[in-house]
Order: sequence, then C-alpha cells, then structure tokens
Amino acid sequence: MKTIIELMTDEFKKAFAECGYSEEYARITISNRPDLCEFQCNGAMAAAKTYKKAPFVIADEIVAKLTSNGMFDTIESVKPGFINIKVSAGYLSDYLNKMSEDDKYGYENSEEAKTVIVDYGGANAAKPLHVGHLRSAVIGESVKRINRYAGNNTIGDVHLGDWGLQMGLIIEELRDRKPELPYFDEAYTGEYPSEPPFTISELEQIYPAASAKSKEDEEFAKRAHESTLKLQSGDRACTAIWKHIMNVSKKDLKKNYDNLNVSFDLWKGESDAQPYIKDMVDKMVEDGIAYESQGATVVDIAEPTDTKELPPCIVRKSDGAALYATSDLATIVEREKLYKPDTYIYLADKRQELHFTQVFRTAKKAGIVRPDADMRFVGFGTMNGKDGKPFKTRSGGVMRLEHLISDINEVILNKIKENRSMTDEEADNISKIVGLAALKYGDLSNQASKDYVFDVDRFASFEGNTGPYILYTIVRIKSILAKYKETGVSVGDLTILPSKEQSEKALSLALIKFSDVIDGAYKDNAPHKICQYIYEVSNSFNGFYHNTKILAEEDKKQQESYIALITLTKEILETCIDLLGIQCPDRM
Ligand code: ARG
Repeated sequence: MKTIIELMTDEFKKAFAECGYSEEYARITISNRPDLCEFQCNGAMAAAKTYKKAPFVIADEIVAKLTSNGMFDTIESVKPGFINIKVSAGYLSDYLNKMSEDDKYGYENSEEAKTVIVDYGGANAAKPLHVGHLRSAVIGESVKRINRYAGNNTIGDVHLGDWGLQMGLIIEELRDRKPELPYFDEAYTGEYPSEPPFTISELEQIYPAASAKSKEDEEFAKRAHESTLKLQSGDRACTAIWKHIMNVSKKDLKKNYDNLNVSFDLWKGESDAQPYIKDMVDKMVEDGIAYESQGATVVDIAEPTDTKELPPCIVRKSDGAALYATSDLATIVEREKLYKPDTYIYLADKRQELHFTQVFRTAKKAGIVRPDADMRFVGFGTMNGKDGKPFKTRSGGVMRLEHLISDINEVILNKIKENRSMTDEEADNISKIVGLAALKYGDLSNQASKDYVFDVDRFASFEGNTGPYILYTIVRIKSILAKYKETGVSVGDLTILPSKEQSEKALSLALIKFSDVIDGAYKDNAPHKICQYIYEVSNSFNGFYHNTKILAEEDKKQQESYIALITLTKEILETCIDLLGIQCPDRM
C-alpha cells in the first residue's frame, strides 16, 4: 500500500506538471511545525531558482490546482513560498480503514525477498552469559524478527564460541579434580561414559576456577593450551569431554535464552567451521591472496579510500593455529554451502569493528562470498552503570544476566503488589513479562551503537519512554475492548469515521506512519526507530483517551468508530512490540 505521503506526492506531481514545472519538486514531508500544518511541500522554493520566478507565485499556482482536491482539509501557500497542508479527516479515515484490512497495516517490503543470516547471541560455551551478551541477544532477536516481517527468509544463528582455550582449561581442571575418570587414563580403550562427568553447577565453578588458576600457575596454563590443541586436532578423550561440556552448556544456555524470549534457528558454533579451515587458507595462498609475513599467513585488506590504516587480516598464526577471523571466514564458507545468504548481519560489541571489516573484505577478496553479498556489522555500545563505567555488580564483579533479570523483575513485582490486588502467582508471572520488557526496551530504545546507562528505576517506571509504559498502554486498550465486548455488541468489521477531535486526528496521523517506520527500522537494522514510534503512538493514544469518553459515548456509530480506531492502535502496538521481542500481559 502506498503511504499517505506517497499518495500526496502523486497529487502534487500532477499539479507541478500541469503548471509546467518538473515533477521532481513535488516532495512532501511531515511538517516540522505541527502547530501550523501536518505536512508541507517546499518544492516551490527550490523550483523558483530553476524557473526564475518568485517562490510564492509558484506555490500559489500549485495550491490553486489542488484546493478542491478531497485529499486536503486545508492547503495554503505561505510566504515566501511554502505550502502547508492538512489532510482531510475523511481521506484519513478511509486510509485507516484500508490499513485495518491489510495483514501488515499497509507495510510491504519493496525489494524482493532475500535469504538473511543473522549472527547474534555469540555466547561462549561453558562460560556464563553475562550482561555483555545481553545486547547481542536482544538487538539481534529484534533485527531477526524485523527481517522476517519484511518477508525475508531469515536464519538466526547463535554462533557459539565453542572452540577456544576455555575447553582446554576445563579439561585440565577436571583432570585435577577427578583424575580417576577414564578420559585421563591413556591406556583406556573402551567406550567413554555417556553421562557427563559434571553437572551444570559444577561446570559453572570449574571454568572460573581454571581460569584463575591459569593466571597463577604457568604449568597449568601450558597444560590447558596443549589440551586445547589436542582437542582441535581430534584427540579422542578431549573430544569426548568436549561433547559433554557442549551438551551440558547448551542446555543451560537454551534455558537462559528462553528466559530472554530469544530463540535461534541454528545452534552452530566455531567448531562447525573447523573442517573448512585448511582448504580455505591453502586456497587463499595458492590464489596469491594470502601471503607469509613474519611467519604468519595474512591477507591485505587496505583500500585506497580508507581514512586510516587498516592492518592485514591474519588467517594463520606462525604455529599453524587458526584465529578468530579464520573461524569467521570458515563459517562463511559453510554458510555459503548450506544457505547461500544474500545478506549477512552480525551483532557484536562495536569494539569488534576492525575484526569484521577484516573478515568482510577478506571474504570478498578471496571470493568466499559473492561480490554482491551484503555484509553488515551492527556494532553496539556498552551497557554502563550509573557511574558511566561498564556495568558491574555491587562488589565490582561481572554481573550475570540471570541476576540482572531477577533484579529488575523484583522492582516490578514490588510495584505491582503495591498497586494491584492479585494472587502471588499472577503477580509473579506478570512481573516476569513486564520486567523483561523493561530490560529489553531500556536497551532497544537507544541507538545500538551508543553506550547507555542501565538504570533499573528509570527502565521499570510506568511513565515516560519505557517498556512498562508501552505495555500499560496496550493493557489499557485491551481492558476498554473487553468492557466494550461485555456490553454484548458484536465486534465485527467496524468503520473508522472521520475524526472530530484534534487528539483523535493526532492518533490517526501517528498510526499512518507505521509502514515508513518499519521500512526505516528494516533498512537500517534499527529497532530503536520502532521504540520511538510506539512511544509516539502510546502518547497519542493516551491523549485521545483522556479527551474522549469511549465507553460512555452515546452515538453508537461514533463509538464503533472509536473502537475500530483503538483496535487498530492495539494491533499496531502489539505488532511493534513483537518485532522488538517483547510480550504483553493481559493485565498489569
Ligand atoms: N563469541 C564472541 C564474543 O563473546 C562473539 C561472537 C560474535 N559473532 C561472530 N561471528 N564473530 O565476543
């Protein structure tokens, strides 16, 4: 469906052409002076230079052509040559009715559907999820959902860090703790046990203990390094332990991501890329793309247009070991083989930008991806504490994600209990949904690349630009609709009538922006644009709600129109929060 701006532009194009001017001047924007008008066209100002006429003369001519057009309530030229527009209430209500009937409220992606890989989450197996992984999961989930809504074949991959030194550390710590296990008996040739030699809570202790030990005990660090290499070259005992680590850890990670309402289509990891590495690097060398430099194998990625010097991408270390970039490149080899994505979207800390520039350029240079593959890095900023430093626990440690979630849930729970009467169980369930919304919205409402301050009190507030405020608005609409239904009327296809009230028109004008907003959020991988929008819609709805007696309205046709309008408002808000990965309770 065309947007109202596009439809208006069509009318203006005709008018410009009929008056003998180029259509290109028929550009309409949302007014930056909402006190004066809703939309504006500044084309006469630009055309004046070309046609050597006073701008207001042109503006007057255009306005004369359009005054009797039913699309406009008022259209006037103002000196020096602006055209101020108010859309007619009838036109607006017709448009809203069409939106209501459309599956996606008028939104359509003008491009052909693509296959898109969204690489997000990025947890490291056997290490606890911490707040640093929060942003990747939350933003990535939203980017994935937006892509899916745009009609793309979208594949979300958690891309686990499952092949690094943490594995050797865990193996060696396990050896010290449980030397009697068959994995550590070199002479053992039988089957290894199918039960893991640790529980998740043991594993959670083993890694930090091993990591601390390796910093003090050089011998231990060396053993861990060797074990990692042994694992990577396919050693039977190490592989058997690794499989246990992966099973136990994945189960726990899934639970954590479930609690965040984040889910992945693929649970692949760096380990899946390993089989491709040797051939890939050998071919780069053969093709003359990679070369030896100080013992390592590197690929130059600098381009003449770079404003700063970019170091080459190291694809093999002098000891033959692969690196982070090698894993990512080999993962692309596999993704090309299995999914042939048109677009790759990676979510990681913005400090990884150089890494991704190196990987993308090397992938293109080596022909690992098609030249027209769209490779995008969405780098996000740090979540800081109120002191402006990366968020920590009170004792200064790294805050674990589950603790962060339970903290915010508790704040919400207390608020709900203070103000509402409901069973403990219900209050508990609601606070989990609302708490998660507070956390996610607090994150998503910031432009991803910016750092932001984690402020529980602000995020959990029921007022202002917060998750709870948006949910509260939806719940309010749900409750009005439920009460309306109780009056026994059938809620069928109701028609939105032309708005009579300023606040009603303001809500309508907010709703019609939906498709433009989704389009912008999709093209820029920018969930914060959806947050801005639902805040505007929520404010507009609440303004309308306070000015109107919806349930007490005596004119039934008018009441039905209100019901239709708020139903559309609810559907649009619900669609938007779903794109953010946020859920809404029935009451709160
Ligand atoms: N595991 C990495 C980390 O914890 C993030 C992975 C990001 N994705 C990627 N394809 N490199 O920093």
